[in-house]
Amino acid sequence: MEREKKMKVAVIGMGYVGLVTAISLAEVGNEIIAIEKNSTKLEKLKLGISPIYEPNIQEYFKKYKENIQFESNCENLNEDVKVIFICVGTPENKDGTADTRSVYEAINEIINNNVLAKDIIIVIKSTVPIGTNKDIEKLIKNKTNKNIKIVSNPEFLSQGTAIDDAINPQRIVLGTDSKETIKILKLVYKKNNRKYVITDSNTAELIKYACNSFLALKISYMNELANICELINGNIKDLEKGMGTDKRIGKYFLKSGVGYGGSCFPKDTKALVKLAEREGYEIKTLEAAILVNKNQRIKLIEKAKKYYKNFNNLNIAILGTSFKPNTDDIRESAAIDNINILLNEKANIKVYDPVSLEIIKEKYKDSIEYSNNIDEAVTGADLCLIFTEWKEIKEYKLNNFVKYMKKAIVLDGRNCYEINRIPKKMIYEAIGNKKR
Ligand code: UGA
Repeated sequence: MEREKKMKVAVIGMGYVGLVTAISLAEVGNEIIAIEKNSTKLEKLKLGISPIYEPNIQEYFKKYKENIQFESNCENLNEDVKVIFICVGTPENKDGTADTRSVYEAINEIINNNVLAKDIIIVIKSTVPIGTNKDIEKLIKNKTNKNIKIVSNPEFLSQGTAIDDAINPQRIVLGTDSKETIKILKLVYKKNNRKYVITDSNTAELIKYACNSFLALKISYMNELANICELINGNIKDLEKGMGTDKRIGKYFLKSGVGYGGSCFPKDTKALVKLAEREGYEIKTLEAAILVNKNQRIKLIEKAKKYYKNFNNLNIAILGTSFKPNTDDIRESAAIDNINILLNEKANIKVYDPVSLEIIKEKYKDSIEYSNNIDEAVTGADLCLIFTEWKEIKEYKLNNFVKYMKKAIVLDGRNCYEINRIPKKMIYEAIGNKKR
């Protein structure tokens, strides 16, 4: 019977993780109070507009909006709220550690709210350094006599597939030693077929860093193999197949290219190196993966130097600026590093991206040109660099490169095309492949 009860759950922070968490918890029948400090975002949310780009999010948001109430701060939480999810950002500090200030701000707001019930559970979904849950527990014990339980519950959703990842998670990690907390969280997550990994909070926090770092390692390893393929005239796509069909290796995250970007892998890999350092341990595999990624991001510029000694006044088309397809996020996107280098060398840059163009415009203003489609971007170009494997770019008619470019030299950082499809009049180099 208890399973049928509607739980009142608060979610603090309406970024990618927060909004998607709110929607997925509403989907299983919880009543949500969603808190967002940024007034522009909050206004949009209240109007039922998702402030983030994500496939299907608008439809899901519309469907479950009735069960989500938006507020600007924790003061508006009441005593019915039993569980509070913290989903605020933990960006990278200058030294590579994670900036947890927003997490502590949220905790303090909760502690100082006298309306809240005495027994509540705070769920830390934000990615936080190992030991943070324990530190928060201590802080709470010192500052209040409320019975607040803390549980680490890292998030594994990916941008581009966030809604599905959150609604059907491959596992739910709960880091706590309180059996009662686990019982209540299972009621919040409701569905019967969930897979749980129950552990202590330090291990739960580490699981998050370990997963992202392992995937980053996989990518850097493949990028090194791609570099070897280029030296031996091999083919990385076949190598990927040969490896990915081995179940022990798995077929995911074997794609070579211009390295990993986004708001998670670059930040979390560095944070794990720092965390290990803090404990007096040097995590050499990960340090190497970070270095490989740094070099990989400028691979296309290295390749371009074979065709042009310098980029001064050269017309360069950039296809794809988001850090991966199906997102408008440009954080740590390889395209950004490359545009900056090319601008420094006084190239004329024209970019095209199906969704992140507005964000790119805000960043580069009139220092570069923007195109409404691929044809427009490549017209008159001496060189084309591809940074994101958008479907539209993968399906582009290759003869159009020849037709529209001044010189059809295409350097592809995401291996979008099969070598045997490349027109004779086009120079094409991808990552880890023979050139054509
Ligand atoms: C990543 C993780 O995949 C999520 O599980 C995690 O929850 C999330 O970080 C987070 O910590 O919040 P995300 O950053 O959205 O998700 O994107 P990914 O799909 O993991 O891609 C990251 C980067 O790796 C992209 O730049 C992508 O182009 C690159 N990548 C990915 C490759 O270069 N090769 C691959 O085979 C896969």
